[in-house]
Amino acid sequence: TKKAVLGPLVGAVDQGTSSTRFLVFNSKTAELLSHHQVEIKQEFPREGWVEQDPKEILNSVYECVEKTCEKLGQLNIDISNIKAIGVSNQRETTVVWDKLTGEPLYNAVVWLDLRTQSTVEILSKRIPGNNNFVKSKTGLPLSTYFSAVKLRWILDNVKKVQKAVKENRALFGTIDSWLIWSLTGGVNGGVHCTDVTNASRTMLFNIHSLEWDKELCEFFGIPMQILPNVRSSSEIYGLMKISHSLKAGALEGVPISGCLGDQSAALVGQMCFQDGQAKNTYGTGCFLLCNTGRKCVFSEHGLLTTVAYKLGRDKPVFYALEGSVAIAGAVTRWLRDNLGIIKTSEEIEKLAKEVGTSYGCYFVPAFSGLYAPYWDPSARGIICGLTQFTNKCHIAFAALEAVCFQTREILDAMNRDCGIPLSHLQVDGGMTSNKILMQLQADILYIPVVKPSMPETTALGAAMAAGAAEGVGVWSLEPEDLSAVTMERFEPQINAEESEIRYSTWKKAVMKSMGWVT
Ligand code: G3P
Repeated sequence: TKKAVLGPLVGAVDQGTSSTRFLVFNSKTAELLSHHQVEIKQEFPREGWVEQDPKEILNSVYECVEKTCEKLGQLNIDISNIKAIGVSNQRETTVVWDKLTGEPLYNAVVWLDLRTQSTVEILSKRIPGNNNFVKSKTGLPLSTYFSAVKLRWILDNVKKVQKAVKENRALFGTIDSWLIWSLTGGVNGGVHCTDVTNASRTMLFNIHSLEWDKELCEFFGIPMQILPNVRSSSEIYGLMKISHSLKAGALEGVPISGCLGDQSAALVGQMCFQDGQAKNTYGTGCFLLCNTGRKCVFSEHGLLTTVAYKLGRDKPVFYALEGSVAIAGAVTRWLRDNLGIIKTSEEIEKLAKEVGTSYGCYFVPAFSGLYAPYWDPSARGIICGLTQFTNKCHIAFAALEAVCFQTREILDAMNRDCGIPLSHLQVDGGMTSNKILMQLQADILYIPVVKPSMPETTALGAAMAAGAAEGVGVWSLEPEDLSAVTMERFEPQINAEESEIRYSTWKKAVMKSMGWVT
């Protein structure tokens, strides 16, 4: 049969903390034509440690590319229409590999990992000059969250890495770098690069000069020769070159021309290109980013300053204020894998719906301490307000409510920093297909919540950046090119007073979770 001709298509790898996806979009309408998703294992070798296998991550990308191409074939869509590929990824997660063998030298240390808590404490005491040394250059507080301390830990503790650094064989990268290096040939000429958004999450990158910062590298003891080249978020980095798998090899020669940390990608996918436009993505964690235009705004209320995007080598850089919540979708996975009260993630909605209230039960999922606006690494999760009446449905409801309350805390901080309160919240990500969650979110924020019909906004943003790159030019970044995306709106249904009472009880619960580990 003749293959349908649709015009240029763009693929996107979305490598998140919980799963990997490959998706293919029509660049004229943003219609999602086909995709495949694979869940990624997380290892917890010790309390507070979170690791992943970089090889498993890479193989999951191959598998997703292969399966998506197969599905396109079944739809009679010719994969030679794929003109570019974008990459978006979980940020901060740290990989070190050997450039001669292509082998990772240690597991990936995941952004959620807390092993560097004591390193952070020691370093905080050594900050040169004023306390603003790290924040003024990077926009970030000194925290276990970011790559520099994870890399420091690997350099201090992994003999193989120490040896490889000495022999000039070690390469460092966040997941984008690891993937792009591997997908562009690996040991056979792989391109070692990252983009400005991912670099801005390492705590080694100067967000004003857009370069690796020598003083920061000295402070953290990081050898600069292992760092990737920093590029814009939209340009041709290299061409796909995979000898590994025949079918994934079908995309051989296609340019990889978009790269953004997943939260920046979602900002682009939601078309938040104007100063003051914001989005909230519900993935493993939950991340609210507000575009602050061409200027760095520093928060007074626990938010991060980060690079939003730079869509082309000669294009200006845009910044964002970010409210980061460590645990959102991860709480559903915990209920499934650790408590076993649901069998699939989707079941949480069914349980919550049965009761429609938490009946006074509050769940603070501070599994990795608390991020914005508290930045308390010593906080730990608590479930409180239990009675003999409480059952698993109430706990499921409280888990969903926790995601909404945490969003409310960062929205409040954002409104205080920006001065102009948001009139509605644009949302996306896997959890937004949960209608109870969306309604709760509107009730707790007391503003409308607006979600796109196609929740894969992160991948869409990476595809847009790839399609718009110089030398590719199949995506214009105009709203007309998103005609397939429609919006659904959730209006607040409870009164403001009721919403405030619930929120203030949540805050009480948060106070109880803080300072737990001494
Ligand atoms: O900063 C971590 C973030 O990029 C992870 O995103 O989608 O895996 O929750 P996600």
